[in-house]
Amino acid sequence: MNESNEPSQPQREGFTTTLGVLAATLGSAVGLGNIWKFPSLTGQNGGAAFVFVYMIGVALIAMPVMISEFIIGRKAGANAVGAFKRLEPARTKPWFLTGVIGVVAAFLIMFFYTDVAGWVYSYAFRALSGGFAHVGVNQTAGVFDSYIGSAAGPLIWQWIVLIVISSVIIAGVTRGIERMTKALLPILFVLLLICDVRALTLPGAFEGVRYLFQPDFTKITAGVVLAAMGLAFFKLSVGMGTMTTYGSYIGKKESLPATAIRVALADTLVSLLAGLAIFPAVFAFGFKPDAGPSLLFITIPAVFKTMPFGQVFLTMFFVLAAIAATGAMISLLEVPVAYLTEEKKWSRLWATIFSAGLMGVVGSLATLSTSSLSKTLVFGKTFFDLFDFLSSNIALPVGGVFICLFVGWKLGKKIIVEEASNDGSLHNLALLKVFTFTVRYIAPIAIVLVLLNGLGILKA
Ligand code: PHE
Repeated sequence: MNESNEPSQPQREGFTTTLGVLAATLGSAVGLGNIWKFPSLTGQNGGAAFVFVYMIGVALIAMPVMISEFIIGRKAGANAVGAFKRLEPARTKPWFLTGVIGVVAAFLIMFFYTDVAGWVYSYAFRALSGGFAHVGVNQTAGVFDSYIGSAAGPLIWQWIVLIVISSVIIAGVTRGIERMTKALLPILFVLLLICDVRALTLPGAFEGVRYLFQPDFTKITAGVVLAAMGLAFFKLSVGMGTMTTYGSYIGKKESLPATAIRVALADTLVSLLAGLAIFPAVFAFGFKPDAGPSLLFITIPAVFKTMPFGQVFLTMFFVLAAIAATGAMISLLEVPVAYLTEEKKWSRLWATIFSAGLMGVVGSLATLSTSSLSKTLVFGKTFFDLFDFLSSNIALPVGGVFICLFVGWKLGKKIIVEEASNDGSLHNLALLKVFTFTVRYIAPIAIVLVLLNGLGILKA
């Protein structure tokens, strides 16, 4: 494909500096996945053994998919669907459907993500305004159940979340996404480190550290592997076009592999730091680590209530969770907005209002799953669980396979080297050999095996 022969495109916005690229992409990766899913899945799947499998999934599968998405996005300079159309202009094969799966997945994720983010926002607000001061250790479950069991509160918070992220998206890629993530990420890190110091200096904290780092390999089952891989995709925001879209905003001088490696490392670090803020405290006060999704909302407030200055740390913890959730949701909303503005020529304002509106309307089904719709099951799952399952366990891995195949076999070695080495100037050819082999064979085969196993078609 010769870029100079393309019809000239209207000037696109993009990320302006290396730091801006890192802030935006890391801001997408870091989210409720680190603070809510990672600890609860670790707790439910046996601790360090799960963490171990998860890290392998990140390095071997999710990170190569991220590099692939960056290559597709930057090479094409277009949104998740448009990128495939531009790189495969003949349209003899429907590769662009990979992008369509991505846009659908962005909606599916947002349907439930905005609900949980709303819980986090409301908890942050409540903590900031002193609303936990009179909640006893044994009352945190009651507080949470009565909150999610009511319809109005969670719905209102879900819409507040949507309005916040919409305003960032409307401000644009540079002035909205890049500026916002650059300002918020450092705050998140500092708050997290303070919570870590607090948790790790509690008497009896070591038990929690061991839980996170000393694997018992007998705990690894097929279910554990599936859960870890689903999380690896979800965590690094790959398999659905977020990183393709963000890749299209990355300048030609940036190193795509280096960006992906930095994001993967920093994101994993945040997960571990979140685990270190949670598990030592959980063990120190004799709580159970396997509470699942309610760990964040029931166990954590109880644990923090128990420790000195708990009120302050509880507030910090939920503020940092809210910041993390916001960066991730911005990137999820950008996927359909970029698609609608570029492919359908909508204005950014209308694309945002429409997408966020749809997320709010259908997302309310997920929100009501804990109240009036708690008995309404589709395929045996509540709407909340259905959206979560369809996105993490199906759409992202399926998208991931096609992204790998597209880059490994369709674009091929020449374009991989061109894009991922910046025309040879990065001198990383050895790394790219490993990468090419991984996206051609290892990643797709591994994903398909885990997927089939997860669907019960292949029994491990
Ligand atoms: N990575 C985000 C998190 O961990 C979630 C996300 C998934 C964001 C997919 C964008 C795309 O919370």
